Amino acid sequence: MIEELEAFRQKAEGELAKAVTEEALLDIRTRYLGRKGLLTGLLRNIASVPPEEKPLFGKRCNEVKEALSARIDLLLAEQASAKRDAVLLRERIDATLPGRGVRYGRLHPVTQVREEICSIFAGLGFSVVEGPEVEQDYYNFEALNIPKDHPARDMQDTFYVEDNIVLRTHTSPVQVRIMEKTRPPVRILSPGRVYRRDSDISHTPMFHQIEGLLVDRGVTFGDLKGVLTVFLKQVFGEDTALRFRPSFFPFTEPSAEVDIRCVMCSGKGCRVCGQTGWLEILGSGMVDPEVFRNVGYDPEEFTGFAFGLGLERIAMLKYGISDIRLFFENDLRFLEQF
Ligand code: FA5
Ligand code: MG
Repeated sequence: MIEELEAFRQKAEGELAKAVTEEALLDIRTRYLGRKGLLTGLLRNIASVPPEEKPLFGKRCNEVKEALSARIDLLLAEQASAKRDAVLLRERIDATLPGRGVRYGRLHPVTQVREEICSIFAGLGFSVVEGPEVEQDYYNFEALNIPKDHPARDMQDTFYVEDNIVLRTHTSPVQVRIMEKTRPPVRILSPGRVYRRDSDISHTPMFHQIEGLLVDRGVTFGDLKGVLTVFLKQVFGEDTALRFRPSFFPFTEPSAEVDIRCVMCSGKGCRVCGQTGWLEILGSGMVDPEVFRNVGYDPEEFTGFAFGLGLERIAMLKYGISDIRLFFENDLRFLEQF
């Protein structure tokens, strides 16, 4: 029996020497040392061991069991540590590598220009207000002296929501909304989205305008010229040449459009300025007495001026962009340049 036990031990050790996985080790433990394992089988035969050998046989059995058990535990521990090492190696990081740069977000060029313009006018005492984009016909047209059958409505191709509700075609309705609920002096700036049925390299169906309005006693066309000149020279530079050109808007009288010397060709004439050397930048004028009457201001007591400019137009000139649609394609290669 002692020989059988020795053979059992050698066989187990032989298998252990070849076991390379955790599963194999656990399997050997079950087969040799488990409750229904081979060693239990051997012990069951103790009856056939001569009485004087029984104590020795029992002792040996225990020794073999302890030895195998300890060996298996050791091998299992080695397995586990090898596994851990492999994981650590696989997930190794080099702490000396330079870090990956954080990519900063930035403001859209149109937003940047809007903020620049708002801060210039804040410095001149204007405050920023907003109005609705879905607007009543009354505020967008009627109160601005543009009656239903007036040819001026053809100037702006309008998106109608309902009979008397439109997507505002300009920011001028904010003038009326503000004057209706405040008494002069009024000094406001109103940026926002406007909508027209228009689409080509210099027109999109949605674009941004900024409206300005100043009303007080004794405001003159000279004030309009002064304020707009200060503003445009801050945006485009002190040396920029400006020109005030007579124009027409139903809600201002007299009216003027302001041109700046073409920033692309410095006035020599190019494709961008249509060979004229000048670029239209905004519409403006003295508030028409009829508009004052519509909001309950006495035109004998108060005068004022208003202006409206296209934000994309300013951004295009400032950054030398030749196609307005680039602003709305959200191509990062374009947007990251600003
Ligand atoms: C107006 O909208 C007047 N409300 C401006 C005004 C305000 C005059 C106050 C007097 C007093 P106009 O339609 O010209 O005017 O538009 C003003 C600017 O918006 C234009 O100079 C142009 O820069 C821009 N603009 C007009 N249509 C588009 C378009 N489809 N896409 C991009 N920009 C446009
Ligand atoms: Mg115009």
